[in-house]
Amino acid sequence: MTDFSRNDFGSDFIWGVSTSAYQIEGAHNKDGKGPSIWDEFTNKGKAYKKQTGNLACDFYHRYEEDIELMAKLGIKNFRFSISWSRIFPNGKGEINQKGVAFYHQVIDTCLKNNIQPWITLYHWDLPLALEKKGGWSNREIIHWFNEYASFIIKTYGDKVKKWMVLNEPLVYTGAGYFIGEHAPGYRSLNYFLKALHHTAIVQGSTPKLLRSFYSDLEIGTTFSCSHLEPITQHKKHILATERADYILNHLLIDLLSGNGYDFNKFKAIQRIQKHIQPGDLELMQGNYDFIGVQNYTREIIKHTWYIPYLKAKIISAPKRKVPHTDMNWEVYPESIYHMLKKFDALPTVKNIIITENGAAFNDTLDKDGKIRDVNRKEYFQNYLKQVLRAKKEGVNVNGYFIWSFTDNFEWAEGYRPRFGIVHVDFETQKRTVKHSGEWYSKFLTEN
Ligand code: FCB
Repeated sequence: MTDFSRNDFGSDFIWGVSTSAYQIEGAHNKDGKGPSIWDEFTNKGKAYKKQTGNLACDFYHRYEEDIELMAKLGIKNFRFSISWSRIFPNGKGEINQKGVAFYHQVIDTCLKNNIQPWITLYHWDLPLALEKKGGWSNREIIHWFNEYASFIIKTYGDKVKKWMVLNEPLVYTGAGYFIGEHAPGYRSLNYFLKALHHTAIVQGSTPKLLRSFYSDLEIGTTFSCSHLEPITQHKKHILATERADYILNHLLIDLLSGNGYDFNKFKAIQRIQKHIQPGDLELMQGNYDFIGVQNYTREIIKHTWYIPYLKAKIISAPKRKVPHTDMNWEVYPESIYHMLKKFDALPTVKNIIITENGAAFNDTLDKDGKIRDVNRKEYFQNYLKQVLRAKKEGVNVNGYFIWSFTDNFEWAEGYRPRFGIVHVDFETQKRTVKHSGEWYSKFLTEN
């Protein structure tokens, strides 16, 4: 039981579900699609148990069924992303008409079912052909992205008005080019800094570009964020937490202000200076209609000499023996409240949509075929209570998207973590609405 209802959020509040192309589509080499960095990474055996997204949820062939199920559950907003290499198999130049047709069909199916599409332009699956030229670490990416984004808006912008430019830029630059856990798998401070800088330019300049084609778009971009606390009040841990907070929660969004990098907050970032060209600060300055906040957990930070540059590490939830999900992420609902307050206070933020929030739990199928994921339902309820708390205190938060609609391919973690409110049997592709999905449906449709 909850002591709030959907109505408490107001009639304009947007409720939806969130996904991304690589995690659900499959059909990785069908109908002219070119390979992406995630196709290469996983097919080289770099994800959990050498799993790949080659088939994933087979959304490419099952989108109708999935969108109809969404409609049946009363879900009115669907966030998905476009696979760049399905449209431009080589990243630029030649266009794959079958890929173009596919997203027309997905969009049209949404519209037919009274579902508003919310599309992310870039959710991590860079065309491999572009990575071979350096990917995000090559300044040319600004032009490649420009060509891709212009084509997408010219093609779909008459039907789709809600757009997000990037998904969690710190994650794909950090995990992809610095830590090496995500595609393309580099461990290089230099590549990371270049990727970061080019990302900041794309992030700042794309909204203007998109608006030059259609003036009635609502354009956002998304950020990962977590509430951070020092392990003790010792000064060194507090300073470590401040450094981590700058990198994890501020760096990219702060760049939208056009004030550039704050070298005092994090010294190692000074090395980015050699990549900055005249005029870049203006290009990095960006004006978004909404900011997508993506929050799952909080982190406890400890000072350490062993982590280069940052000198801070995360003490995991299992180590701290606190409730956590299958990702080892602490269940800590207040985190979303603190993040909403933090982002709302930023001058670059006018309007917040929570574009992702959710939990991976190891679901069990009961004998009657049902999945009683009470833990996931309670996770949503407790986080939503904190969203409402922030909203009541005046935070301009106007939407909430569950991650995710169906179980899917969780990047380097493969199919193990299940985030869906709809269960997927990956052998048969059968969909089963979980208890949490039934709850969400009731929450959205009652009274
Ligand atoms: C976010 C990603 C999303 C999904 C969730 C669990 O960081 O944007 O694709 O993997 O985490």
